[in-house]
This record gives sequence, C-alpha cells and structure tokens, in this order.
Amino acid sequence: MIVHGRFLQHLVEFIAILHLSIQGHFLCNAVCMESEAEALLQFKGGLNDLTNRLSSWERGEDCCQWNGVGCNTSTGHVISLDLFCANSLHKLQGHLSSSLLELPYLSSLNLSGNDFMQSQVPSFLGTMRSLKHLDLSNANFKGNLPKETLGNLSHLESLNLSGNDYSLQVNNLKWLRGLSSLKTLDLSGVVLGSSTANDWFLDISMLLSLVTLRLSGCQLHKLPPSSEVNFDSLITLDLSFNYFGDTIPDWLFENCHNLQHLNLSHNHFRGPIPDSVGRLMSLVTLDLSNNQLIGSIPSTLGNGHTQNPLLKELHLSNNQLNGSLDGSLERSLGQLSQLVVLKLAWNKLEGNITSAHLANFNNLKVLDLSFNSIRMNRFEQKEKRITLHVSKNWIPPFQLETIGLGFCELGPQFPMWIQTQKNFSYVDISDAGIFDIVPDWFWDFSPTIEYMNLSSNELRGCEHDFSQKFKLETLDLSNNNFSCPLPRLPPNLRTLNLATNSFHGNISRVCEMLGVNNSLGFLDLSSNKLSGNIPNCWSYGGNMIILNLGKNTFSGPIPDSLGSLTSLHILSMQENNLYGKIPDSLKNLQVVTILDLGGNRLSGPIPYWIGGEMHILKSLILRNNYFEENIPITLCMLKSLKILDLSGNKLTGAIPPCVFEAMATEESLNDFSYMEYQTIKGSLSMYQFRSSPWFLNALDLSSNLLTEEIPLQITELVVLVALNLSRNQLVGSIPYGIGEMRYLEFLDFSRNHLSCVIPSSMLRLHFLSALNLSYNNLSGKIPHGFQFDTFDVSSYEGNPDLCGNPLIQECSTNISFEDMHCIDSEGSNNRERENDEHEDNVGTNAFYISMVIGFITGFWVFWGSLFLITPWRYAYFRFLSSTHDWIYCCRINR
Ligand SMILES: *[C@@H]1O[C@H](CO)[C@@H](O)[C@H](O)[C@H]1NC(C)=O
Ligand SMILES: *[C@@H]1O[C@H](CO)[C@@H](O)[C@H](O)[C@H]1NC(C)=O
Ligand SMILES: *[C@@H]1O[C@H](CO)[C@@H](O)[C@H](O)[C@H]1NC(C)=O
Ligand SMILES: *[C@@H]1O[C@H](CO)[C@@H](O)[C@H](O)[C@H]1NC(C)=O
Ligand SMILES: *[C@@H]1O[C@H](CO)[C@@H](O)[C@H](O)[C@H]1NC(C)=O
Ligand SMILES: *[C@@H]1O[C@H](CO)[C@@H](O)[C@H](O)[C@H]1NC(C)=O
Ligand SMILES: *[C@@H]1O[C@H](CO)[C@@H](O)[C@H](O)[C@H]1NC(C)=O
Ligand SMILES: *[C@@H]1O[C@H](CO)[C@@H](O)[C@H](O)[C@H]1NC(C)=O
Ligand SMILES: *[C@@H]1O[C@H](CO)[C@@H](O)[C@H](O)[C@H]1NC(C)=O
Repeated sequence: MIVHGRFLQHLVEFIAILHLSIQGHFLCNAVCMESEAEALLQFKGGLNDLTNRLSSWERGEDCCQWNGVGCNTSTGHVISLDLFCANSLHKLQGHLSSSLLELPYLSSLNLSGNDFMQSQVPSFLGTMRSLKHLDLSNANFKGNLPKETLGNLSHLESLNLSGNDYSLQVNNLKWLRGLSSLKTLDLSGVVLGSSTANDWFLDISMLLSLVTLRLSGCQLHKLPPSSEVNFDSLITLDLSFNYFGDTIPDWLFENCHNLQHLNLSHNHFRGPIPDSVGRLMSLVTLDLSNNQLIGSIPSTLGNGHTQNPLLKELHLSNNQLNGSLDGSLERSLGQLSQLVVLKLAWNKLEGNITSAHLANFNNLKVLDLSFNSIRMNRFEQKEKRITLHVSKNWIPPFQLETIGLGFCELGPQFPMWIQTQKNFSYVDISDAGIFDIVPDWFWDFSPTIEYMNLSSNELRGCEHDFSQKFKLETLDLSNNNFSCPLPRLPPNLRTLNLATNSFHGNISRVCEMLGVNNSLGFLDLSSNKLSGNIPNCWSYGGNMIILNLGKNTFSGPIPDSLGSLTSLHILSMQENNLYGKIPDSLKNLQVVTILDLGGNRLSGPIPYWIGGEMHILKSLILRNNYFEENIPITLCMLKSLKILDLSGNKLTGAIPPCVFEAMATEESLNDFSYMEYQTIKGSLSMYQFRSSPWFLNALDLSSNLLTEEIPLQITELVVLVALNLSRNQLVGSIPYGIGEMRYLEFLDFSRNHLSCVIPSSMLRLHFLSALNLSYNNLSGKIPHGFQFDTFDVSSYEGNPDLCGNPLIQECSTNISFEDMHCIDSEGSNNRERENDEHEDNVGTNAFYISMVIGFITGFWVFWGSLFLITPWRYAYFRFLSSTHDWIYCCRINR
C-alpha cells in the first residue's frame, strides 16, 4: 500500500508538472485548435500546390507554425492567412474552400496573386464577420460579386479586389454602406459600368473612415458636376482609366481637404484645369495625364509657397495644354521646390526656358518635356518648340534620373550641362537640333543608363564603347552623321537602331553580342555603308522580332542561321549585293509578316515553301533580282498578303490565278502595325499614294517574262491600290471585271501584247490617277468621262488601233470584226453576272481546288474554274457595295 501511496503521489506530482509545462507552452506559444487545423487542411485540399508552398501544412504539426498561417498567441486561434504570391510560377491554383468558415476568428485573408481559375467570389465570405482585411487582388476571379453578403462585413477595414482582369462585376455599390469601418477600398478593374450615374458616388460618400479609394478602370462614366459631400478622410483617390468626360469638377478640389494623391489620368476630361486645384494644400501627387485638357497650366498650382507647397509629382503629359511654359515656370511651377517629377510631354507648350526658371528644382529627378510643339499656322511646316536656353557652364540644381527632352530645341551645340548629371538611366535628346560632335565624356558617363535616344540630330563622333553598359536596353543613334565602324555593343541590349548614318565596315560587333542569353529584339542597321558578308551568327536570335539590314553594301549569300530567328516579324535586306539562292532554312520564319529581299542579285526559283510556311506574310518583296521559272502557285495560299512585288526578275509562265484574301476583302484594310508600316513605306516610296499610306495593297509583277492572259481572278483583288503588270508578254484582253477594283490608283499594263477594247467598266475606277496602257495592241474607242479626261497621250501611245481623245486618231463609225468580238465578250460578261444573282454560292474550297487544278491542267480547265467561282465572286461584290460608302467616308476623315 505504501508503495502504492508513494507511486500515486509521484503520479500526481508528475501530472501536475506535465500540466504546468503544457500550460507554460500554451502561454508563450499556443498550439492551434484541431478543428482549425482540419479546416486549413481541407482548404489546402482545394488547391493545386505545384511548387510545394504549403509543404509545412502537415497533419499532426502545430498549424500555427505553418507557412502563411498566423495565430493569436494567447488563444491559439487562427487569425490570419497570408498566402500572397508575388511570383507567378508559384501560384496556388484551384478553388476557395468553404472550410474557411471553421476559422471563426480569421481577421485577415490575403490570397492576392494566386489563381482561382475564373471561379466566382464565394458568398460565404460575407458570413466571416471577424474579417478585417480581405485581399483577393490579381487572383483570377470572375463573375458577379456576392454583394448581398459582402455587405455584412461590418468590421472590414480593407478590401482589395483589383487586378481580376475586368472579369468581376457588380451593378451597384449600395452594399458598401454596410462596410462602415472601411479605410481602404480598391475595386480597380471591377466593372461598375452599369451602376447608375451618381449613385456609386453617393454610396461611397457614406464611408466616413475611407482613406484610400481606387476605382481605376471600372468603366465609370459620370462624376457629379457638383456635390456638397465632404471627403475629409480621403487621402488617396484614384479614378484613372475610366470614361469621365466634361470638365474636372471643382468640388473634387474643394471638398477633399486632405487629399494627398489624386489620379485622374486616362479619362476624357476636357476643358482647362480648374484654378481650384490650388486649394489642395496637402497635395503630393497629381496625375492628370492622358486626357484632353486645354489651356495653360494654372498659376494656382504653385504660387509663392502658398499653394500646393508639398507637391512632389506633377503628371500632365498627353493633353493639349498650350501657352508659354516659361510663363508658367515664372509665375507658379518654378516655385515648387519639392518637385521630384515634372512630366509635361506631348502637349502644345512652347517657350524659352532659362536656368533661372529651373533654379528652385533642387529635388527634381524626372524631367520630361518631350514632344511639345505647335504649328505656327496650319499650312506651314515650321513649329514653335520648347527651347532650353542655358549657358555652357550651367550647373543645374538637380540630379536627374530621367532626361526627357526629345523634340525640344537644345542645340546647335551639344548640351554640356548633361555632364553634371551623374546618375541618369533615361536620356532622350532626339530631334533636338544638335549639330555637333558628341563629347567623349558623354559616352562613358552614367553606368546605370538604360535608355538612350539621340536620333534625328546631326551628331558625329566615334569614341563610343558600350560594352560596359550592362543595363543599357535601348540605344537609338539613328538619323545622324555617325561615320564610324560599329561600336562595341552593350551585352543586354533589346533595341538597337543605328539606321541612316554612315556606319561602315563589317558587323562582327553584332555577332559578339548575339550570345546564348542575348535579348536583342529589334536591330535596324539600314541605310548605312556596312559591307562584307552577313555573318552566320544568328543561332541564338530567337528573341529577334525586327531585323533590317537594308540599303547597305552587304554581299555574299544569305546565311543559313537566319532561319533560327523563329520570332521574326520583319526581315528586310533590300538593296544590297546579296547573291545565291534563298536558303531553305528561312522556311522556319513562320511568323514573318514582311519579307523584303528586293534589289539584290538573288537567283534560282522563288521557293515554293514561302506560300506553305510563312502563313501570315503580309508583304513579299523580291523585286529586282534574278529569280527565274514560274511564280509558284503555292503563293496563292497567302491569305494575309497585301503587297506582292516580284517585278524585275526573269519569271516565266502564266500569272497564277491567285485570289489573295487580304487583297480581296475590305476587312483587312488597315491592319499593318506601326513598325510594319514604317518598313513598307520605305519599300514602296515610288508610289505617291493619294489615299492614306496605311492603305497599301499592291501587286507588281512588271518587267518579267510572263506569258498568257491576265487571269480573271485578278479583278477579285478589289482593294488593290496599285496593279502593275507592265513589260511582260501578256496576251488577250483586259478583263471586264477590272471595273470592280474600285480602289485602284495606279494601273500599268504597258508593253505587253494585250488586245481588244479598253473596257468601259474602267470608268468606275474613280481613284485612278495614273494609267499606262501604252505599247499593246488595244483597239477601239478610249472611254471618256470622269478621270479618263485627265490622262494624256502617253497613257495610250503605241496602240495603233486605239482612237478617240486624247489621241489624234478619230474613231470611225464602222466597227471592225476585231472590235465586234471584244464587245461581245464584254456583253457576255454582263449576262453572266445576271445569271449569278440567282445561283447559290459555291464554297471557297471548291474554288481553291478548281483554281489549282485549273492552273495545272491548263487553259480550258482554267475557264471551267472561272465558271465555278463567279457566283462566289459576285456575292462578294454585293457585300462590298453595301460597305463601300462607310469605308469611303472614313478614309476621307482620317
Ligand atoms: C488574442 O485573443 C485575446 C483574447 O480573446 C484578445 O484579447 C487579443 O486581442 C487577441 N489578439 C490578437 C492579436 O488578435
Ligand atoms: C447579411 O445581411 C442581410 C441583410 O442585410 C441578411 O438578410 C442576411 O441574412 C445576412 N447574411 C448573413 C450570412 O449574415
Ligand atoms: C497582401 O500581401 C501583400 C504582400 O505582402 C501586401 O502588399 C498586401 O497589403 C496584403 N494585403 C492585405 C489586405 O494585408
Ligand atoms: C490592391 O492589390 C494590388 C495588387 O496586389 C496592389 O497593387 C494595390 O496597391 C492594392 N491596393 C491598395 C489600395 O493597397
Ligand atoms: C495613375 O494611374 C495610372 C493608371 O492606373 C498609373 O499608370 C499611374 O502610374 C498613376 N499615376 C501615379 C502618379 O501613380
Ligand atoms: C490655347 O488653345 C485655346 C484653344 O484650345 C486657344 O483658344 C488659345 O488661344 C490658345 N492659347 C495660346 C496661348 O495659344
Ligand atoms: C531666350 O531667352 C534668352 C535670354 O532671355 C535670349 O537671349 C534668347 O535669344 C531667347 N531665345 C529665343 C529662341 O527666344
Ligand atoms: C541613381 O539612380 C537610381 C535610379 O535610376 C537610383 O535608384 C539610385 O538611388 C541613384 N543613386 C544615386 C547615388 O543617386
Ligand atoms: C527615339 O526618338 C524618336 C523620336 O524623336 C522616336 O521616333 C523613336 O521611336 C525613339 N526610339 C526608340 C527606340 O524609342
């Protein structure tokens, strides 16, 4: 018994100690509840955790120690779940499990940056009454917000639903009235568009504690023009990227006394900036950029330290502000000594700025005055610009990180004050009227430089070595007078533009840079004096999108490794001395849209694979080479082709009856990108297009050895602007359907063996401004009226049987047999059209098949194929005539 008594005593002591120690453990570090651990595991079960972010979440372990889980240290309850994901590779993916309801004390839930796979924001969240912080930003949620329940979260202090890609929507904000503790609200990108005019604004005005409000990109249309409501709590207001029009209402500045950050950028605000902006005494950042604001910069913005004395950032770029900038600096802006960011680019400001105007900007880091100009008058080219008039020895009070002075007047001497700026990462002094040698110090300054644009000046000097500029990504020295060998290039360059200078020698410097990890995407060396072979060093060029080596004196073959540029969109090597065949490796350039190899000495057949592999080719220019044999019928597969220039080669055989879809439909009229357009504009400079130069559709097969008739399919290319088949050996008549090509401005069929009459349907070609039918065997009467009255003899000479104005030869009333035949063919064409009105459309497939067979099997089957396609064609014409007026008026307005 004694033994037993002792044992019991020990046992009691042991249990007591155990109990104490457990309690002690609790006191300094509480263990989580089993039910809550279970809930978390269920929550984990709903998610796909590819990178094992939740590997610490194991049954049996203390869940308070799990990654992202926070507990109340005295009670052990889970109070926060922070699974924010900054790296898109580590996203949790799946759905939001309602097991979260078993966490009754959860006050902060942060799931930002994960992927909830377009699921709805679950309505159970609204029953989690202890939530104070809810962050579901950038989390790929979709659908309507469960506004009925979310409105019950009366303890919520911050709610962030931004960045869900315009997929979330809610049709009113009444529910917000329940969120009486809210301090931070970010609904950016949530579509509120249908909420009625001013309601959204009244609902928000009920949130008396609101400090931060972001409604960027919510498709809001209206701000109330006046309001009595005070927003005294508000410090940050972001209404950018909406559709607000009209003028900026005064009340914004009068009723938000404590506002520090105001962002109204990317709207449609019009009218002047209200003077009342000066009332915002606490304003630190003001962003009104990308609107349509007019007038001058209000003097109330900064006036002798009494107004906006704290302003650090002023963003007014991309408006239509006008007037003199030096005036504004003198009166107001110049006193804003706290200013760090001053962005006024892309306005219509002008003025003569001196060092005195800038004397107070001790803190300025970002200065962007680029691209301001006003036309002196509508018809003059001359412009007034911003001039920076400072002395050679000026030492600015600031150290800039961004120098944006493109299109300002800085020259003619190189701006020496830049030497005092030791740490800038961005410099744009393009088109700044500088005629000078770039001083040596400029090339080895600021090691942190990322962007350098010196284009369109008259700069010289060769001391550059960029190989140590590890951050330099954009280098643009184009349009200057650099007459040097290529410099050593920066290793991490993305954009290099040295076009239109006199760089000479070979391009091995480019190869040095094209190592395994290069990022080069844009390389333009065109219009220089570079020479030698194009080296075979492009194997790692997979990032390259634009490569322009045109207008140099490169010789030798096209290197095979160019075929490694699998992302290439634009390849131009025009006007060099390249010879040999087009290498088969180029068939890997499957996303190329512009291929220009014109003006070289290339030979062999045109590769058949161009049609098969370069699926999205828009412009193919092979002119002035020695290409021979037939034009491959596979080219007919190029559905996006808008420009085909094979002129000046030795091509033989018939013109394939291609109907390039993009030349036959008005839908694709303007789909050149800016870069594509820039390249093409250079290639087609021989045409003085009357219509917008974006509107380029051209087919040029001139100066070859092509035979047989003009295929009737050519008249289906109804949006062609230029058609040149001159200097071949074509026979037969001009297709009557040519009258449907109503956008034609240039038409040249000269120096062939065409016969019969000039079809009267051509009178319908109202845009036609250049016509050349000379040196054929055409006969009969020249049509008269409309644009035909403007063509002179040179359009028709060398056709002995033509008669009528402007030729001297008058038409006799007797019609020869030859003419009878021609008129008959014209008439039958008309009959054909009438029949077609009643026929069903024949599928495009049938059309293509018959076209290919037709081409291969010869003339008679070819006519058969024509019979098959005509119904299709005229259906198209009917569609086009209904859209024509619309397109026409848009072109005029552009
Ligand atoms: C932890 O819980 C206790 C008791 O309920 C409470 O007083 C305390 O404020 C909580 N602490 C936190 C950080 O939530
Ligand atoms: C939320 O509040 C509404 C009334 O505003 C009420 O009908 C509803 O029951 C509440 N929902 C929950 C889950 O508390
Ligand atoms: C969510 O986490 C991110 C990153 O830590 C943080 O910036 C954000 O403020 C958090 N949201 C809330 C509501 O705490
Ligand atoms: C909301 O979340 C986004 C993305 O995580 C963040 O950029 C933004 O600053 C947050 N909004 C607020 C007001 O904190
Ligand atoms: C204003 O908003 C736009 C668009 O949301 C943003 O790009 C810009 O950086 C903001 N301006 C400032 C000064 O933060
Ligand atoms: C500024 O533009 C407005 C019209 O937008 C014009 O009335 C005004 O005269 C211009 N002011 C100056 C100084 O050019
Ligand atoms: C700019 O102002 C300076 C000094 O006030 C003057 O000497 C210079 O001629 C002016 N330049 C222009 C282009 O008006
Ligand atoms: C230099 O500029 C960079 C940004 O371009 C900035 O982060 C850094 O602090 C600057 N360094 C100095 C010494 O001013
Ligand atoms: C350099 O500035 C010119 C305008 O002067 C602009 O057209 C060009 O796109 C800029 N270059 C780069 C690479 O940004």
